[in-house]
Amino acid sequence: MPEPMTLKNDRIMARLQAAAERCERTILPGPIDDAPTPDEPGHPEYHRRQRAAVALNRWEAATPRRYHEATVTHPDVTAWADRAITDFATAGALLLFGNIGTGKTHQAYGALRRIAAAGLPHYAVIATTAADMHGNLRVHPGDPQHDMEHELRRYCRVPLLFVDDVDAFKGSETTEQNMFRLLNERYNECRPMIMTSNLLVRDPDGGPDLAAALGDRIVSRLSQIATVIPITGPDRRPEFR
Ligand SMILES: Nc1ncnc2c1ncn2[C@@H]1O[C@H](COP(=O)(O)OP(=O)(O)OP(=O)(O)O)[C@@H](O)[C@H]1O
Ligand SMILES: [Mg+2]
Repeated sequence: MPEPMTLKNDRIMARLQAAAERCERTILPGPIDDAPTPDEPGHPEYHRRQRAAVALNRWEAATPRRYHEATVTHPDVTAWADRAITDFATAGALLLFGNIGTGKTHQAYGALRRIAAAGLPHYAVIATTAADMHGNLRVHPGDPQHDMEHELRRYCRVPLLFVDDVDAFKGSETTEQNMFRLLNERYNECRPMIMTSNLLVRDPDGGPDLAAALGDRIVSRLSQIATVIPITGPDRRPEFR
C-alpha cells in the first residue's frame, strides 16, 4: 500500500497557508445590500402595486360588465384623473356632458380605472345612476331595515362617487333634498365625484338644463369645483354592435 503523502517542506506549507489566508480574505462577507427591491415587501413600489391590485378589484366590482374594458382616452378627462391622483382634495367634480351615445359613461369608468391603477391609499368607489341612487334613498316598504340615512351617508362619504345620468330621475321634494345634501357634503369635504349628463349646465336658449334639473344652489357649487368637459361626436352604439 502506498504511504500517505505528507508535506514536510516548510516553504510549501507557508505558501499553502498564505494562499488559504488570501482565499479567506476574498470570501469574507462584505457589507450586505439587503434593501428590498420593487418586487419585495418594504419597497414603496411593492406596496403601491399591492394597493393598485386591491383598488382595481374594487373598480371592477363597481363597474357594469359593459364597461369592463373602458379606458380613458379623452385628454381632458385623463388630465382630471391625473389631478385626482396627484391631489385628491383639489380635483373637485368632473362633469361630462354630450349627446346620447358619445362615450361619456365609457370615459367616466375609464377615469375611475386610471385612478384605481395609481394605487392611492384608501381607494373606494360607488358608481350608480341618479335614478338608482334615488331609488335606493326611498322608503323600502318590504324592508323595514333599509336605512336611508345610512345609504345617503355612504354616497356622501365614499372617497370617489360616480353618478351617471345625474339629471335623469323623477324629481320630488325628497330627491331635491337628497341631491342637495349629497352635493353639499361632498363639496364641503372636498371629495371628488364624476357625473354625466345629456344636458348643458345652463342652456342659453332656455331649454332643459342642469340648473333646472338640479337647482341653482347645486349648480352654483358645481360652477366653483367642476371641470366641465363636452364629449362630442356621433352615437357610438351602432359602431360597437
Ligand atoms: N372610446 C371607446 N372605446 C370603445 N368603446 C366605446 C368608446 N366610447 C364609447 N364606447 C362604447 O360605445 C357605447 C356608448 O358609449 P357610452 O355608453 O359611454 O355613451 P354615453 O355617452 O354614456 O351615452 P348615454 O348618454 O346614452 O348614456 C358603449 O357600448 C361603450 O362601451
Ligand atoms: Mg351613459
